[in-house]
This record gives sequence, C-alpha cells and structure tokens, in this order.
Amino acid sequence: MTSSDVWTAEQAQRYDGVGGVFAAEVVEETVDVLAALAAGGASLELAIGTGRIGVPLRAKGVHVTGIELSRPMVEVLRTKVTDEELPVVIGDMATTRVEGEFALVFLVFNTIGNLRTQDEQVECFRNAARHLSPGGRFVVEVGVPPLRRLVPGQVAVPFDVSDKHLGFDTFDLVTQQATSHHLNLQADGSYRRGTHNYRFVWPSELDLMARLAGLELERRTQDWAGTPFGPQSESHVSVWRRP
Ligand SMILES: C[S@@+](CC[C@H](N)C(=O)[O-])C[C@H]1O[C@@H](n2cnc3c(N)ncnc32)[C@H](O)[C@@H]1O
Repeated sequence: MTSSDVWTAEQAQRYDGVGGVFAAEVVEETVDVLAALAAGGASLELAIGTGRIGVPLRAKGVHVTGIELSRPMVEVLRTKVTDEELPVVIGDMATTRVEGEFALVFLVFNTIGNLRTQDEQVECFRNAARHLSPGGRFVVEVGVPPLRRLVPGQVAVPFDVSDKHLGFDTFDLVTQQATSHHLNLQADGSYRRGTHNYRFVWPSELDLMARLAGLELERRTQDWAGTPFGPQSESHVSVWRRP
C-alpha cells in the first residue's frame, strides 16, 4: 500500500507539455547527463510516467526499464514505445522489484516527494540500491524546500503568477507535508483547480536515506548543467554511488 496519490487518466492525458521541463533543451541536457552516468550500462527509471525522459534516453542508445504506479501514465508512454523497446512494471517504486541489475537508477522531477512518508522514502532508496550493480549510481532531482519564503504568519508560498497559471504551495511544517495548488486558465475564462500532495525533504535527509541504503554521495549540483550547489540553490541533482 502506497501513500502516493495515483495519477488519473485525465491527468495522464494532460501531462505532456511543450515548455518548462518538456522543452527540448531541458530534456536533452537531462538525458545527456543520465547517458553519461549510465556509461554504457542499463538504466531503471522510477516513476517513469509518460516517458518524458525515459523515451529520449532510450533513443540515445541507453537500455531503459521503468517502474510506474499509474496505468494511465503508462498508456500514454505506450503511444511512444512498445513494451519490448521500453519495458515498464506497474507498481510502487518503494517496493517493486524488476529483473536485472542496473548501472543507473534515476528518479527525477521532484517525484521522491510523491512518497509521502519518511519510511517509504527510505524504502525507495533501499529499492534503488538493490537494483544497482556495484559502482552503480542512483540519481534524484528534487527541489530544496522553499521554506525561507514562508514568512511567519503566512500560510502559502506562490511559485508562479502568470497570465494563464497561478500556483502556490501550502506547508505543514511538523509533518513535512505540502500541497501544490494550481489554478489554470481555461479557454472559456474559467479556472481549473488541481492539487498535488507531496512530502518535502532536505538534501541532508536524503543523504541519510542513501547511507541507510549503503550508498555514498558522489556529487550534488544545482541542476543538470552542473552549476555548483549552494545556499541559494532551489533544487538539486544528487548522485549517490553503490561502492
Ligand atoms: C511528476 S511525474 C514524473 C514523470 C516522469 N518521471 C517525468 O519526469 O516526466 C510523477 C510520476 O510519478 C508517478 N508515481 C507517483 N507515486 C509513485 C509511486 N509510489 N511509485 C511509482 N510511481 C509513482 C506518477 O504516477 C507520475 O507518473
């Protein structure tokens, strides 16, 4: 049983976009780093979704297998690649085991937070480690909790105020639970509301989870371009290695 919200068919149909993380240059930069880390070996993407990264990584010549909780997300992925080309096991990334050993396991786009308990996030690191060959790497891309923006007395932090979208996060500081609220402008002038629940987690807590799973931090950068991680960084790409 997982604490993750299960993504619906409607969410899956709307998922693929054009800008932001779907922009060709963002995808290319991500795929280049992952291909280099795979170094000719096979890779496993946890929460592969519709294949935003997995599909182009495979096209670059890296063997990719996926684990994904939502069947509708995999149905969208199946419009791009066959099961032989990119096998996906439906299940929870914290516990689902797939055949084989991997040089690279990766979990991108803040998705570690979809596991909403510490126990499940710890299990996810253990599950990643158990799929790695010796010397293999686990890569996580996730935001740094934006709590410095949550001034005392405020309940929400806006992260996007643009013509077609209003987005803000609310936080429970005790339980490390957060919700992203989205209001998207529709063609008829109304707004569609959507929410996304997640557990926010600090880099140091992730390092401890990695250590519990027998992994060592190899490098942490602010982004896929390799910008050094520092006190102003709002996200990170972290690489842990199985000795
Ligand atoms: C933000 S999307 C990321 C998809 C893809 N990795 C990408 O970068 O575009 C989050 C994905 O995580 C999946 N997911 C959420 N909880 C999960 C879990 N416990 N196990 C496996 N997949 C999960 C969702 O179904 C969804 O496809």
